[in-house]
Amino acid sequence: MQAPFEAVAEVDELAPGEMKKIRAGGRDLLLCNAEGDLYAVDEMCSHEDYSLHLGCIQGRKIKCSLHGSYFDLASGAALVEPADEPIGTYPVKISAGKVWVDPT
Ligand code: FES
Repeated sequence: MQAPFEAVAEVDELAPGEMKKIRAGGRDLLLCNAEGDLYAVDEMCSHEDYSLHLGCIQGRKIKCSLHGSYFDLASGAALVEPADEPIGTYPVKISAGKVWVDPT
C-alpha cells in the first residue's frame, strides 16, 4: 500500500505570507505559509472556479481575489460571503527537510 503523504516542498521554501501551487494525489492544491505554519488547501475557490493562488494570505486566512471571500486555512471554513461552502484542507507534516502533504 502506498503511503498517503507526498513530498511537495523544501521545508524552508516558503516565507510567511507566501503560497505555492502543488499537485498531490491527483489534486491541485496550495501550500500556504501563514504566520510560520504550513497549511495545504484546495487551489480552487468553493464559490466559482477561480484559483485562490491569485488571492493572498492574511493572517491565517486566504482571500479569494475574485469576489473577496475569506477562508480559514486550518478548517477551510468560508468566513466571508459570497462563498458559503468550505474548501478542502489536508494534513501537512515536516520530515527529513521536506514538507509532506496527505492529499487523501
Ligand atoms: S470565486 Fe472566490 S469568492 Fe467568488
